[in-house]
Amino acid sequence: MSVVTRMYYPVCRSRMGHAIVRATVGGVRRMGGLQNPYLPFDALSMEYPAYAGLATLWSRIHWSTGDGMMPQDELLAVYRLAVEWPVDGDIIELGAWIGLTTSYLATACRVRGSGKVWAVDTFAGTMEGDRQYSSVEHHGGSTLPEFRGRVDRAGVADLVEALPGRTREMADAYPGRPARLLLIDADHSYAGVRDDFNRWLPHVAPGGVIVFHDYRFPDVARFINQEVVFDSRVAFSPGIIRPNLVAVTKRPPDDSTE
Ligand SMILES: C[S@@+](CC[C@H](N)C(=O)[O-])C[C@H]1O[C@@H](n2cnc3c(N)ncnc32)[C@H](O)[C@@H]1O
Repeated sequence: MSVVTRMYYPVCRSRMGHAIVRATVGGVRRMGGLQNPYLPFDALSMEYPAYAGLATLWSRIHWSTGDGMMPQDELLAVYRLAVEWPVDGDIIELGAWIGLTTSYLATACRVRGSGKVWAVDTFAGTMEGDRQYSSVEHHGGSTLPEFRGRVDRAGVADLVEALPGRTREMADAYPGRPARLLLIDADHSYAGVRDDFNRWLPHVAPGGVIVFHDYRFPDVARFINQEVVFDSRVAFSPGIIRPNLVAVTKRPPDDSTE
C-alpha cells in the first residue's frame, strides 16, 4: 500500500479531512520526486546483484527523480529486462529526457558487467512530428546539464554516452555495438515511432529486445497493433509487459518459427 493510500483512509473520515488530504496529495505530486514514495516489492524477487544495484541507485537518486516520465513499476520492468535479457550487447535509449530511465539502464549494465547506454535525445524538449513543445523551458532551454548531473549522481556516468540530436539523423551515425535492448520513448506520433523502429532495428543484435513505452498513446498503440504485430523481423514476445510497455524480440536472420 502506498504512503499516500495509508495516509488517505484514516484522515478521510470527514469532508474536512478529505479536503486536507487532497491538498497534501496535490502538493506531493507537484514535488515530482515524491510522486512514488515507495519501493516496489517486485524488486525483492530479483537476483541479489540486480536488487543490490537498485538499492544503490535508489539511495543516490530515488528522492531526486524530478520530472522523470516513467513510474516505478515500469522502470523496474525495463531494468529487469536490461539485466536479464540473454543476449550480449549495448543498450540504446531513444528519448532520455533528464536521465532517469538512462540511470536505470546504466545500472543494469553495471550489475551485469557488460555494455553501455547510448542515450539519443535532442535535449531540447519533446518533439511530436515536427512540432516542438515548450516543456524544456523550465530546464533553461536544454535538459543536457540536468541529464549529465543525474547520471553522475547515479554513479553511472562512465557507462553512458549522450548522443545529442534527432533520432532520425543519429541512426545513421550510431557508433556503438549492436544493442541487446532498444528503448523507444521519443516522438510518440505514428510517423515518429514508426521511423524510430525502422531506422534503429538494424542496430539491434539478433535476439535483442525492443521496448516501446507509452502504449497508452493512441498513435503508439496503432503502430504496434497494425504493423509491429505483423512484422516478420520481430516476434511479439514477451509482449505487453505492463499496460504501458510492449516488448518484442528481433528474430535472428535464420529464424523461421512463426
Ligand atoms: C517522453 S520523454 C522521454 C522520457 C524518459 N525516457 C523517461 O522516462 O524519463 C521524450 C524525450 O524524447 C525526446 N525526443 C522527442 N522526439 C525526439 C526526436 N525526434 N529526436 C530526439 N529526441 C526526441 C524529447 O526531447 C524528450 O526528452
